[in-house]
Amino acid sequence: MSIIRSVITGVGSYLPERRLSNQEMTTIVDTTDEWIVERTGIHARHIAADGEKTSDLALHAARAAIAHAGIDVQEIDTIIMATTTPDNTFPATAVTVQAELGLHHGVAFDVQAVCSGFVFALTIADTFIRCGQSKTVLVIGAETFSRLLDWTDRTTCVLFGDGAGAVIVQGATGEGTNADRGILTTHLHSDGRHRDKLYVDGGVSSTGTIGHVRMEGREVFRHAVVNIADTIKESLTATGMTIDDIDWFIPHQANKRILDGTAKRIGLPPEKIVVTVGEHGNTSAASVPLALDGAVRDGRVKRGDLVLLEAMGGGFTWGSVMVRW
Ligand code: UT7
Repeated sequence: MSIIRSVITGVGSYLPERRLSNQEMTTIVDTTDEWIVERTGIHARHIAADGEKTSDLALHAARAAIAHAGIDVQEIDTIIMATTTPDNTFPATAVTVQAELGLHHGVAFDVQAVCSGFVFALTIADTFIRCGQSKTVLVIGAETFSRLLDWTDRTTCVLFGDGAGAVIVQGATGEGTNADRGILTTHLHSDGRHRDKLYVDGGVSSTGTIGHVRMEGREVFRHAVVNIADTIKESLTATGMTIDDIDWFIPHQANKRILDGTAKRIGLPPEKIVVTVGEHGNTSAASVPLALDGAVRDGRVKRGDLVLLEAMGGGFTWGSVMVRW
């Protein structure tokens, strides 16, 4: 049976120049390198320069993905941008990227699912391609998350960083089997009962301010391990595959202990997990494409590999995308 598959044909990413180490963090809040490393696995994060906007980070990542895919930029008919930190309340940051890329056709819009944003955006891209709405989609996860942080709150400010990642997704013909190249299955979830466990205490229609990130860390941690393991299991059930079939697990990078806990719960060998949280911190919607780009460019992810992307974030939101590379 011949079907349309969404194939990732290019990846790119960008980190702001400034690296903020744990050591430097100890001069900002009452913390230690030992505490941060032991509880999170984070050694450093990158911080956008003054005046450097989410769209600037996104454009760097987008141009790298376009070059990697080897396409003409005019082939892009859809831009889906996952971000929690838009340049402006409106218009969507995606339209700034569209204009800066010199595109005057197609559609560009933002998606808000916090740390799960890239997985949500990629799923929308897959659906658009399979429905015939789009042929070539630029999917971006980009954040200047440092601007949402309360730099006097040591329980949150040590965890996050800025960055961007992007992919080009294009339609191709597949046989309808697990051997096809492209996205094989996607699964998304939200549960708004937990919206006050990880949130920003400001907003346009509530306080009229931007606000700061607030989190019940332990509660988020507990839900993350369970929800991530569940969405991995549902992607395996949907495709009839087993955990041994997965070549690379590329999770949202919030905390090394969450990754270890998930791996243990589902029986995934630690050497199959791509871990970037140590140098990036939690970059929210940018973390999965940043990790994916690193693993593709250093040759770990190869053509034919089975790759499982996953994320969990505020809302709560969570989900997974299984891709044959
Ligand atoms: O991307 C969205 C998903 N986000 C996540 O998945 C984050 C999930 N949560 C976590 O990663 C962890 O819960 C944290 C890393 C946020 C916290 O780790 P924890 O092991 O759960 O620590 P805790 O919150 O229970 O705090 C333990 C202690 C507290 O002190 P007391 O009350 O025991 O005296 C905190 O005040 O550690 C203290 N503490 C710190 N100490 C030094 C909290 N932050 C810091 C810090 N430096 N930065």
